[in-house]
Amino acid sequence: MDDIRKEILTCTKCPLYKGRKNAVPGEGTVNTNIMFIGEAPGENEDTKGIPFCGASGELLDQMLESISLKRKDIFITNIVKCRPPGNRDPAENEIHSCKNYLQRQINIISPKVICTLGRFSMNYFFPTFYISKVHGNIFNFESHKIIPMYHPAVALYNSNMKKILLSDFQILKQFI
Ligand code: URA
Repeated sequence: MDDIRKEILTCTKCPLYKGRKNAVPGEGTVNTNIMFIGEAPGENEDTKGIPFCGASGELLDQMLESISLKRKDIFITNIVKCRPPGNRDPAENEIHSCKNYLQRQINIISPKVICTLGRFSMNYFFPTFYISKVHGNIFNFESHKIIPMYHPAVALYNSNMKKILLSDFQILKQFI
């Protein structure tokens, strides 16, 4: 994982490297059953080089706490490791350039369960799925279970979404 981290920090495979302060390889332990995959770093993440360290990250921490998990118990990363300008959606070529890093991270951790946060990481595994239809359900993908979840950002100012996310997190308990 250290080698992958170093490669990501100096990556120039797609143009996003030109605008970044820091690439964001991921955080947590490789000895875990549970991996979370978000979309791409935002401004805070780009500044600090840590995934989910802004407002969405605070909410993610609350969700983890609700099932007695801490960040050190899991591994968190994103589909794309560098910040798209102005927080726009990641482009196909950017996702494609980063694919090899994510795949190697998944191979090393070999998690029982992968929680995808938001539609981009869900569509990475299941391109035809709609998050509103499948969130909180368990799907098989190769040797992993995948649980699509809403991105914490959608729950920041929407208490109903927060309830849905909290309830979806309960499904994770069986894998701890
Ligand atoms: N949103 C994401 O998808 N990933 C982060 O790391 C931060 C915000």
